[in-house]
Amino acid sequence: TPPIVRTVAELRAHVRRWRAEGETVGFVPTMGALHEGHLSLVRLAKSRATRAVASVFVNPTQFGPNEDFEAYPRGEAQDAELLASVGCNLLYAPTVGEMYPEGFSTTVTVAGVSEPLDGAARPGHFAGVATVVSKLLLQCGPDVAVFGEKDYQQLQVIRRLTRDLDIPVEIIGGPTARADDGLALSSRNAYLTPEERQVAPEIHRTLTAAIEQLHAGRPVAEVEAGAIARLSAAGFARVDYVEVRGAGDLARLGPGPITPPARILAAAFLGKTRLIDNMAV
Ligand code: PAJ
Repeated sequence: TPPIVRTVAELRAHVRRWRAEGETVGFVPTMGALHEGHLSLVRLAKSRATRAVASVFVNPTQFGPNEDFEAYPRGEAQDAELLASVGCNLLYAPTVGEMYPEGFSTTVTVAGVSEPLDGAARPGHFAGVATVVSKLLLQCGPDVAVFGEKDYQQLQVIRRLTRDLDIPVEIIGGPTARADDGLALSSRNAYLTPEERQVAPEIHRTLTAAIEQLHAGRPVAEVEAGAIARLSAAGFARVDYVEVRGAGDLARLGPGPITPPARILAAAFLGKTRLIDNMAV
């Protein structure tokens, strides 16, 4: 398994040594409970740099007060084994105290792209993400950092903040890894009961059908409403949104026929578990 370091100083020492040896560095931040989606990002990082660093840090500041921070699945030994299987060279697993020492006072907020969708449904979430990702990128100093399209709005928030703050890193988006039935892989899928797991791929089917309707020229507002109704009928307890948005800035489209490039994004609860998914239109 890769060496595990828990401090910024040790992380920087590894990266400094690699750089002196002429290596390049790819970085994959995660919250652990790793699955094939995360591993595909590490493979992508290794294809774009000669060394790959993964971080595992369950970031408390991106969870709301009634969300699953305590329950979030944790298993460092298995994560380290999985990272070894894809050639990851270093695991950075800081403590909460290393990331947020006494007196920590700074928050990074990204206006615009972090406001709609999950930004509206999960107040403070993207400020937590933007702050921790800024820190992780500045701690590691990689050439490239890889994030999944599974969290499409997060990817756009990170692209924006690295440009705005002149953080010298290339942000790469990796495609969403899915189960055979189309369900996007997620650490949170572990919360689903067997019955809920049967229903869950309905999100992907709904988005796929909605895209066909958009291509057939149906108005955006009608397609969105139809998709929300379909998810509710399938047994989703609460649908936070199904929306078609501009692919880069996530600006509102419609109500008429779509103007590409566009993205369709959805968030809905199955029981207590909140699932998200998105696809290119
Ligand atoms: P986490 O949910 O662990 O995801 C880590 C990375 O894996 C993110 O870039 C996410 O988009 C990607 N990912 C998750 N599921 C995926 C899938 N099925 N296919 C492809 N990529 C997938 O996202 C976070 O952690 C955190 O917000 C973090 C960025 C680490 C900041 O705390």
